[in-house]
Amino acid sequence: MRIALYQPDIPQNTGTILRLAACLGVAVDVIGPAGFDLTDRALRRAGLDYLEHADLTRHADFATFEAWRRSAPRAASPRLVLLTTRAATVFTDFTFQDTDVLLLGRESAGAPEHVHQAADARLRIPVREGLRSLNIAVATALVVGEALRQTGGFKALQADPSAGGAAP
Ligand SMILES: C[S@@+](CC[C@H](N)C(=O)[O-])C[C@H]1O[C@@H](n2cnc3c(N)ncnc32)[C@H](O)[C@@H]1O
Repeated sequence: MRIALYQPDIPQNTGTILRLAACLGVAVDVIGPAGFDLTDRALRRAGLDYLEHADLTRHADFATFEAWRRSAPRAASPRLVLLTTRAATVFTDFTFQDTDVLLLGRESAGAPEHVHQAADARLRIPVREGLRSLNIAVATALVVGEALRQTGGFKALQADPSAGGAAP
């Protein structure tokens, strides 16, 4: 399981997602250009802790990210699963695979049409009528939680002798 962030705008949200991913043992792909400096130094300056525990890969742009994703043999190529308010399928009705890449759109504008088209699946989190969208980190936590529950990810964490330590 991986989390991918499409051109994130807000460093604090990326920090929250990196921390979530580090704790859950999920890798993160950040697809540029981002709305802030993505170097380790700048991320630390922005107060992003847990950076040293995160498995972070930076991609210059969406084309580079797609080339990387498709470089795996076709049968092993991870599916791109886009979280978007414009989807028909609700995330709890979807069958996740442990190789899925869960892609989140940017805070200001979501994901553009060509990214919607590139996705193998598009999922939404139902919210009350008239309310727009969830914070990106909250949306990530809900869907990663469901994906890990379905694919046995939490059981694997419980079996991991390095899990459950006393890091602050
Ligand atoms: C703050 S939202 C983006 C809002 C943006 N104005 C839009 O209309 O798409 C940032 C990202 O969080 C995810 N997200 C937020 N609420 C969601 C929902 N109800 N269903 C699916 N994804 C959601 C999506 O990936 C979205 O691109």
